[in-house]
Amino acid sequence: MRIWVNGELRDAEDARVSVLDHGLTVGDGIFETVKTVDGRPFALTRHLDRLTRSARGLGLPAPDLDEVRRACADVIDANPMALGRLRITYTGGLSPLGSDRGDAGPGLVVALGEAARRPDTTAVITVPWTRNERGALTGLKTTSYAENVVALARAHEHGASEALFANTAGQLCEGTGSNVFVVLDGRLHTPPVASGCLAGITRALAVEWTGAQETELPFDVLERAEEIFLTSTLRDVQAVDRVDGRELTGGVGPVTAKAMRIFDERAGNDLDP
Ligand SMILES: Cc1ncc(COP(=O)(O)O)c(C=O)c1O
Repeated sequence: MRIWVNGELRDAEDARVSVLDHGLTVGDGIFETVKTVDGRPFALTRHLDRLTRSARGLGLPAPDLDEVRRACADVIDANPMALGRLRITYTGGLSPLGSDRGDAGPGLVVALGEAARRPDTTAVITVPWTRNERGALTGLKTTSYAENVVALARAHEHGASEALFANTAGQLCEGTGSNVFVVLDGRLHTPPVASGCLAGITRALAVEWTGAQETELPFDVLERAEEIFLTSTLRDVQAVDRVDGRELTGGVGPVTAKAMRIFDERAGNDLDP
């Protein structure tokens, strides 16, 4: 595998950043995960916009998007595959050991790994830990993801592929790496960004393409929703067939099936919507 590290492509074993990089020592970094299909990135412009927003939120210099695009293209060309997970990581760079950031400038790493198409349905659990809708990092896609690591491990222990969080106000928020949609009385809803969820790119496209409403929802809506689905870069639209102990009858419900179909069609027609 060939990886872009700070200006050049390197073999994986020679692709290194400093052990004093602030991304490693304190999680001071941001990232994007972009789907690639047959060597072409999906929705790259939206991902780069969010990368810039995350950088601003963390007080990192704005990334040079021409360089990031070149890095992505070079990595994709060097690693041909059918379905890929393109990972852009942009960190605080060489820094002192504490929380103060150094002035060496940010680091950029772009890597590509093979991905498998997700199953159409999956199980999720709820977790007791909360998302903070009022934190300094709320809405930013930072590399400080250890809370997600813990929650996702809990999901796997319970035979699920995702864990869903409430926010501190007890409202439905998001998953460790996905947004959530619910069907109530036949209508599609998803929590607003003010709930503290990431402004997911798949979420935004699904809202645009299905007309889903952004609605504040209590966390226990998961106990009564007629249908539930997840959205993320690598899940696209994925139906939920079990939440904790509750089976959702019928696997992929009608509203979810329609959202999946619309998403596949629209995404297939435009690689950079
Ligand atoms: C916390 C979190 N929420 C939601 C999402 C979904 O966002 P996207 O559709 O942009 O992949 C992600 C990213 O994968 C995420 O990390």
